[in-house]
Amino acid sequence: MGRRGFLKSLPVVGAGAALLGGCASQEGAVTGVDRVLSISLGQAESHPSYGSLVSFGERIAEATDGRYGARVYANNSLGDQQETVQLVSDGAIDMAVVSGTQIENSSPRFLPMNVAGVFDDIDHQNRVMLDESIVGELFASLEPQKRLSVLGGYTQGGRHLYTAQGPIESVEDLEGLKIRVQESEIFLRLINNIGGVPTPMAYSEVYTGLQAGVLDGAENNEISYVTQRHYEVAKHFTLTNHLIGFDFLLANTDLLETMDEQDSVALRAAWAETQSEFVEIWKQQTEDATATMLERGVVITEPDPEVFTAIIEETGISLLEDPADFALYEAIRGAAEGGDS
Ligand code: GCU
Repeated sequence: MGRRGFLKSLPVVGAGAALLGGCASQEGAVTGVDRVLSISLGQAESHPSYGSLVSFGERIAEATDGRYGARVYANNSLGDQQETVQLVSDGAIDMAVVSGTQIENSSPRFLPMNVAGVFDDIDHQNRVMLDESIVGELFASLEPQKRLSVLGGYTQGGRHLYTAQGPIESVEDLEGLKIRVQESEIFLRLINNIGGVPTPMAYSEVYTGLQAGVLDGAENNEISYVTQRHYEVAKHFTLTNHLIGFDFLLANTDLLETMDEQDSVALRAAWAETQSEFVEIWKQQTEDATATMLERGVVITEPDPEVFTAIIEETGISLLEDPADFALYEAIRGAAEGGDS
């Protein structure tokens, strides 16, 4: 049975799936398959990664003739990202999407992928993330000890600063402001170097942190800013574009090894297709999020690039200490348009 035929035979249609033209239950699950793989996600259902993961589940179901499907658990309902890294490693969850900062905490070898300036844009990032010769060894490096296979992931696009008070146009404007960061050395240094006071906090707590005034600001992409409704409590959005982040998709290695080879190959191919398709969805939804921001009265400021760019790029490179980090950094730069290494 082909994809369309197979999907037609599945019951219940959910909102996320309807958006992408597929079939799934309201809980983000493809039903009627032999084995439903669990996928943990920290985002709300309105974030494009949710709909994309639902569609990934459909692709798996079609490519494995219904031997496998997936169910997506949004809003960190299976645990915060760091917790889910461990749960995937133990095999309690099959897959999870976690920010680059979390994987960097599990293995410093991933650090070069998280630094400012390593990617020119999201097309460059996607090219690298699908290039076996650059990422193959790294993505398999957690398999022997941690039983974690990295399949690739989703772009986080460019990340920017936002604050309750503003606008932010200079390092002085940021002085003393408590800016929420992910639990990561890169972000701590970055915010510190551009004048703010970095305040590590879980993603799910940022809204209340801003609302209560525990935080003066945070940093993220337009889509997270809108889907988490942070614009309600921090109206000044400053286009610093300080880093192009990446969310990694982790799978339990034992799961992949116990699947029939044709099924695990099909699952990886389904992922590669989903990941590339997501880049275009991301671009479109970033535009939509920007339109929403303007409608909601967000003040968008574009600071003089001279102000932050040099500090930001230097911060990134200053964290690379190991020769292997430099080699990976150079390989990634080599895949930029025009191959500047
Ligand atoms: C983005 C990213 C998440 C991450 C979040 C954060 O939304 O996609 O994976 O957790 O930023 O700032 O914590």
